[in-house]
Order: sequence, then C-alpha cells, then structure tokens
Amino acid sequence: MHLTTYLNDIVVWAPAKVNLFLEVLGKRPDGYHDIATLMVAIRLYDTVILRKTDDLTLTCSDQSLTVGPDNLVLRAAKLLQERTGCRLGASIRLIKRIPMAAGLAGGSTDAAATLAGLNQLWGLKLSNAELASMAGEIGSDIPFFFHTPAAWCTGRGEIVAPAKLPIPLDFVLLCPSFGISTPAVYKQITLPAQPIMGEAIRAAVSKGDVDSIAKLLHNQLEDAAAIVEPRIGDFAKMLADTKPAGSLMSGSGSTLFALCRSREDATCIAAELAPQMKAHKFRVIITRTE
Ligand code: C5P
Repeated sequence: MHLTTYLNDIVVWAPAKVNLFLEVLGKRPDGYHDIATLMVAIRLYDTVILRKTDDLTLTCSDQSLTVGPDNLVLRAAKLLQERTGCRLGASIRLIKRIPMAAGLAGGSTDAAATLAGLNQLWGLKLSNAELASMAGEIGSDIPFFFHTPAAWCTGRGEIVAPAKLPIPLDFVLLCPSFGISTPAVYKQITLPAQPIMGEAIRAAVSKGDVDSIAKLLHNQLEDAAAIVEPRIGDFAKMLADTKPAGSLMSGSGSTLFALCRSREDATCIAAELAPQMKAHKFRVIITRTE
C-alpha cells in the first residue's frame, strides 16, 4: 500500500490481490481451514482518506456497503484504539473501486490501509510487524498487505512470508456482477487426498517464468465456488477460451483472472471478452502486479 499526505489528510492507496495458488490443507478445530496460498498485489486500488477529528466516523463512495461497526475499516480502527489506548479520532472516507465479495480482498486491504494510515495520523509508531499481527485478528487476508507485492501465506492465511517477484505479471480480470460468500465456499470444500505443497509454483514465480507459473496455477476453492454459484464454471470456460497463458479463480471468487504473456496479450484478451460483457453482466479489468 502507498501512503501520501495531502494538506490535513493521509491518503492510502489500498491494492487488491489475486491468488496464483491456493491449497486447502485441512479443517481446524477453530472452524477455519489451514491453507497455503501465493498472493500477489495488483494495480487496482481502493482509496482510504483519513483526517484527525474527535470521534471515529466512516463514509463510503458505495452506498451498498454498510458503514456500521461491522465494517472491517471501523473494526481495524477500534482495535488500534483499544490496543494502544489512543483516544484520538478520525474521519475516514473510503473510495471503493475493488469489486466486493469478489475474491480480491477489497475489505481486507481497506482494513490494512486503515491500520497503516491511522498509525501515521495518530503518531503511534507501531512497526509493520505489530500492525500485521493486529491485522490477523480481524481477518485472515489482512496481514498480507503489509508484505506486498508477493507473499506465501499459511495458517489461516495470516502467516506471511514475503516472496520474490522479479518481473511484473499481466492479468485480465473477469469480475461477474454477483459476489460469493467466503464461508459458503469453505462449507462446500472437498479436502484433497494429497494436497499440493506449492514448491513448483513458488520456484516459477521467483524466476519470473510466466509459462511455468501458468501451468502451475491452482485453486482448491474453485470447484467449491462452482457449487455455490454454478455460473463460475461458465465464466471460467469463457476466459480459458481466449487462450491466455493460464486462467484461474481468485480466492473464494467470484473474480476469474487470465495470466497473460504481456500487456499486449492482456489487451487482446480483454478486447475478445468485451462483446460478451453486456449480455453476461461482467466487468473486464486489465491490470498487473504492483
Ligand atoms: O478470516 P476471514 O474473516 O476473512 O474469513 C472469513 C470466513 O472464511 C471464515 O469465517 C471461515 O468460514 C472461512 N475461512 C476458512 N479458512 C480460512 C479462511 C477463511 O474456513 N483459512
């Protein structure tokens, strides 16, 4: 994420992510699943704008998002106040661009941006490691955003080891008009008899070998998501038919992404999808890793 100061405001650019690999290793006693996932941050951003005030308030550009105490942004801010004893307030403005319930961690990145932004606004001087550890208490995907652009994440997803990403990766995102609930997808999961441990794709990413990464893309949640929302299978086929280097669903869906050989390849794939966008109600976004 990127922080800038503008007059009285701290402006945080909060990136989305996609998962190049996600294996489910087993169910845990706490109801979560142990996973192993390779996440990369992409150049698609929400913006979180923070200004010092007496109380804590949140407004959002998207009226469909609730701005009550359940919102991850407010939960992050409250947790930071509790843990540090800080009594300062903030008005928080959230500009949404990342599709919601889309497997792109939009809510998680907003929470991470809030922790980082308030740390600066309130002069708390917490380290990234301290913020990331707090982040893991509110959501499994949030700590990753303190270790962008690429990381190998285990446990619930909250144990983060930064990974090398020597070249930018180009993507086309196909974002359906519907979102998918993450808990609903995990409920449908079939645990793999022999989980893939992901060494091969980690090696391919560290070498920047796009063709090998493409062959090794894997998401154990994709079949489960297709049970919850059968249209996922149709969109996955539509994207594969454009013949990218590889394609996959991100996180628990609903976004599918094409991994492309170059920016030009991405432009061609997006153009091929464009005529079908209106009829099938999806958005197409050309993007690349941060
Ligand atoms: O951690 P987070 O709040 O984002 O998780 C949302 C839900 O997704 C959890 O309540 C759980 O049902 C499911 N989940 C899981 N295993 C994970 C991550 C999420 O079962 N590793």
